[in-house]
Amino acid sequence: MIRAVITGTGSALPARRVSNAQLAETVDTSDEWIVERTGIRFRHIADEHETTATLGADAARAALAAAGAAARDIDLIVLATATPDQTFPSSATKIQALLGIDDCVAFDVAAVCSGFLYALQVADSMIRAGAVRRALVIGSETFSRILDWEDRATCVLFGDGAGAIVLEARESDAAADAQGVLAVRLHADGRHNQLLYVDGGPSTTGTVGKLRMKGREVFRHAVVNLAAVLTETMAAAGLAPDAIDWLVPHQANARILDATAKKLGLSPEKVVVTVDRHANTSAASVPLALDTAVRDGRIKHGDLIVLEAMGGGFTWGAAVVRF
Ligand code: COA
Repeated sequence: MIRAVITGTGSALPARRVSNAQLAETVDTSDEWIVERTGIRFRHIADEHETTATLGADAARAALAAAGAAARDIDLIVLATATPDQTFPSSATKIQALLGIDDCVAFDVAAVCSGFLYALQVADSMIRAGAVRRALVIGSETFSRILDWEDRATCVLFGDGAGAIVLEARESDAAADAQGVLAVRLHADGRHNQLLYVDGGPSTTGTVGKLRMKGREVFRHAVVNLAAVLTETMAAAGLAPDAIDWLVPHQANARILDATAKKLGLSPEKVVVTVDRHANTSAASVPLALDTAVRDGRIKHGDLIVLEAMGGGFTWGAAVVRF
């Protein structure tokens, strides 16, 4: 059978890093409040030359280099983003042009913070169906451009950044210890649109809009949904939860990560946490955390990793991958 194997990871952050104390100079907040409620210490903010497409292209170049692959070998780019450079064309095609790829399949996927999981399943399915052999799956965001910088309850939580993986077709056996994507499960429940949304768009206001969130209710749903989908996806892969080497969750809030790990009986040492360094980067946060843990040597070939995320919609999902 064909499986999709992660052969390289990469990430990119804007040059400008902003601490909680720097934010407190313009927003009525404090380092203590942000650290205690969220675990966030820094976020990176794009300057006018850095966009979702340029950050995504930088992360993709790093992933290609790690995979030892050339841009011309890529035949699919799936970009997860809620903050495209323009309403259209897709930022995936902008990344394609920046990478100098003349022809491949390229499109964006919109599932907000779960976007990377959605993009991963699309790419995994196309690879296993034999439609493409080598894909770039990218999460890239510039949430700083849709934040209301006067709303302290939201603007302190988010940052900009990008992460990417190269996913390649490999012949594999059906065993659960085989390398590659073993199972993905996705969900959406649009009844909760109004708990986390942007109050604008091309077909409604004709403006870009700003992010709005009922934080406490999002928190409650996140812990329940993430624990449930993780258990479901491990079962789909035919594995018990104690087989997990590393949980690589969406980096929204350290308290959500702690509560989810506790609910699953998972040791906190097995959870990759990077939210302190780059805040919530939406669709970029899972591949950013993955790349961090691969490059610092925590995640090694053969490790069983679980990626999971939850975001606006609500959307949520998880993937079990033998790295
Ligand atoms: N600095 C200081 N005080 C702040 C603040 C800030 N940045 N933001 C809110 N507050 C205040 C509120 O005004 C409120 O004050 P009041 O009690 O005088 O009214 C108080 O802090 C508590 O606010 P509340 O929103 O109830 O806090 P909370 O404990 O729920 O924490 C979040 C807020 C946003 C950190 C928390 O709800 C959360 O993390 N939710 C999930 C959000 C998330 O991760 N979303 C993305 C998912 S993809």
